Amino acid sequence: MRLRSTPPSDIKPDEITPKSLYLDRRRFIESAAAAIVIGRTEKNSFSTTDDITERKAATTYNNFYEFGSDKEDPSQLAHTLKTDPWTVVIDGLVAKPLTLSVEDLVKPEILEERIYRLRCVEGWSMVIPWLGFPLKDILARVEPTGNARFVSFTTLLDPEHMPGQRRSVLEWPYREGLRLDEAMHPLTLLAVGMYGDVLPNQDGAPIRLVVPWKYGFKSIKSIVRISLVETQPPISWNLSAPTEYGFYSNVNPEVDHPRWSQATERRIGHFLRRKTQVFNGYAEEVSGLYTGMDLRVNF
Ligand code: MTE
Repeated sequence: MRLRSTPPSDIKPDEITPKSLYLDRRRFIESAAAAIVIGRTEKNSFSTTDDITERKAATTYNNFYEFGSDKEDPSQLAHTLKTDPWTVVIDGLVAKPLTLSVEDLVKPEILEERIYRLRCVEGWSMVIPWLGFPLKDILARVEPTGNARFVSFTTLLDPEHMPGQRRSVLEWPYREGLRLDEAMHPLTLLAVGMYGDVLPNQDGAPIRLVVPWKYGFKSIKSIVRISLVETQPPISWNLSAPTEYGFYSNVNPEVDHPRWSQATERRIGHFLRRKTQVFNGYAEEVSGLYTGMDLRVNF
């Protein structure tokens, strides 16, 4: 799937900000971030108080297979990603589909800072201050219809500027999915910034998902489409290795990856390994979503 250059017929042209009216994304996110930092006397209830990972680690040790599979590839190669202009299509089983530029999606007043733990399925973790807004806010705007049960997310397909897409490491474009109630959970964030700045390309500019209780691969980067669907959507890592990466992928110290244990993790910047927490430490908030489900079967 490619970026639409023209709006679909169901979107009135005046719903899309003309290019001349684009806010300067960086200036606007920085000023929103500054306001947040001034107003941040205590961490909001969704943020962890764990020590924040150094920005340098979070921006040079990345997984973004569109730019290669080594950790340092994305920070070295992702400058070729074209993020401006950028539109996100929100469609599928909704009453009011939308095609919005990032500037239309992100109003300064809705941005908030969330300090979340990110636990990668490979066994490392970081603590990152994201700037974003709950996904549920944008889903409410499009009004999912009664038969919408899942949300499917798609990354940009652009092999010209994403060299990793020229190799078949994964099925491109990268795709992810959530059950609708997971997507509507207040912890589920669409992030446009981190560390008080716009997202660097290697971290998923201009807009990415962050689902803190799931393994990091669920947090899809550089999103161009969000579709409401009826059945569980295919997701890239599950398509490539179904026995290793499940649809749910909730962080779970008791369910090992077939090739390694998930009982402990290495927090980047720390020496000793630590115990993995069930749901990455967010059990109080999210375990109710899985009542009655066998999380070994639905891994
Ligand atoms: N999104 C896309 N489009 N492509 C990817 O390769 N990697 C995932 C996720 N989102 C990935 C992606 C994985 S495995 C992880 S751990 C996180 O991004 C890493 O996010 P970070 O590099 O910002 O820490």
